[in-house]
Amino acid sequence: MIQDGQVVGALRSSDQDTTRPKVAHGWDGLWQWEQNGVQMPYVSIYDYLLSRGNPYTAQLDDTYRALEARMRQNNCQACHAPDNQGNSAQLEFFVYPNQALAGRHDIITQLNKNQMPPKNNTLNLPAGISDPTERDLLIKLAREFETAGDKALTWEGDNKTQFQYPDPQM
Ligand code: HEC
Repeated sequence: MIQDGQVVGALRSSDQDTTRPKVAHGWDGLWQWEQNGVQMPYVSIYDYLLSRGNPYTAQLDDTYRALEARMRQNNCQACHAPDNQGNSAQLEFFVYPNQALAGRHDIITQLNKNQMPPKNNTLNLPAGISDPTERDLLIKLAREFETAGDKALTWEGDNKTQFQYPDPQM
């Protein structure tokens, strides 16, 4: 089914064509394999999200890793994940790299206000981050991640391939 130029769904007939030969797919038992010299599957972080030539991918990967590890220590991902342990009506997720990238400015805003974890939360965590050194470190890591994210996305925007309409004369 195509709606506004987008494929929105597909149906499969329950009438099977029994004349078509069956292909027996066997599993080779390999959980890991190598593709073009790369061990698969691998943790891609921002590899697939950004263009191949993006010069900021490594910086974004590293700053994300540093921030997510520290946020984990502060239980941020316990609530900001689809299982919604914080029982929130509205919530941004930070568990996937793309989600954290989208939330990079909000994370800094919240850390500056020191309103996370929120008061009276369902996990009975103390409200805010009480240790100022810990909060400063989190803010620093969040800023480094934000800077890398801004640079990487700006590069993507600046280097977008312009779509060329075919020349009607040709
Ligand atoms: C106990 C659960 C819990 C923990 C832990 C927690 N949050 Fe939240 N967070 C919430 C809830 C619930 C909201 C929704 C706003 C509100 O109602 O206060 C929220 C809101 C936010 C927002 C604004 C965007 C949104 O989702 O609405 C950001 C950014 C945020 N939190 C960052 C963090 C960071 C960073 C940490 C770790 C330091 C953290 N949170 C820890 C529950 C939590």
